[in-house]
Amino acid sequence: MNTLLPTDIDSLNAQFEALPPQALLKWAVEQFGNRMALACSFGAEDVALVDMLVKITPQPRIFVLDTGRLHQETYDVMERCRQRYHIEFEVYFPQTALVEQLLRTKGANSFYLSVENRKECCHIRKVEPLGRALQGLQAWITGLRRQQAVTRASIPKVEVDDAHGGILKLNPLADWSEEQVWEYIRAHNVPYNVLHDRGFPSIGCAPCTRAIQPGEDIRAGRWWWETPEQKECGLHVRSG
Ligand code: ADX
Ligand code: SF4
Repeated sequence: MNTLLPTDIDSLNAQFEALPPQALLKWAVEQFGNRMALACSFGAEDVALVDMLVKITPQPRIFVLDTGRLHQETYDVMERCRQRYHIEFEVYFPQTALVEQLLRTKGANSFYLSVENRKECCHIRKVEPLGRALQGLQAWITGLRRQQAVTRASIPKVEVDDAHGGILKLNPLADWSEEQVWEYIRAHNVPYNVLHDRGFPSIGCAPCTRAIQPGEDIRAGRWWWETPEQKECGLHVRSG
């Protein structure tokens, strides 16, 4: 639980909205130290944030939800980042018994059959591990951007995460465009997932992500069989 009042959140947003993401990260590092962590899926936004964070503090806390169904290319970029930045990523894996039960009762590909099944798999492989990753934290950082989806159009840079005990959720890249993310990656020679060069602007689990066609929405390849309003896995639940 954070001790900031709603008016404090408003003034933080007013303060940081027009500033570069590093300003919010620096404030957060000073404020929360190791009671804060970055949630990293190794997508373009997240590797940019890893690079920004290590330039502010040499040993930032960064957690990875390894669903067990990630692309090999995602593990490759994790490894390149580990070597480049000398970081020990805090990897969380789903609970063995829950995955075993899911596969025994519904098979390995149940997520294609219904939204309910898909959310069940996301809950077991992402949402439950996220709850463990956030334990004891006062704040977490994400790579969410407003332009990513209809469900994300109004995210602030600083919010209270009621779904996770009222800790702070920081979205330093909320106002950035995809181009700004890539400008940063190129300017700082940041390791990135090679799937981005093969038509994957947004990368999740291998069976639930595919390349998009030119002109398609950037999240069109995520859970492509579902409608845009359904395309959230439960990591980013908003009450407002
Ligand atoms: S998702 O909800 O559709 O899966 P998306 O892939 O857009 O999310 O990522 C949004 C942000 O959620 C990322 O920038 C990152 O902060 C966090 N995130 C998503 N997937 C993971 C993961 N597997 N491990 C850690 N953080 C993640
Ligand atoms: Fe399961 Fe697909 Fe969700 Fe990954 S994205 S947790 S494989 S339903």
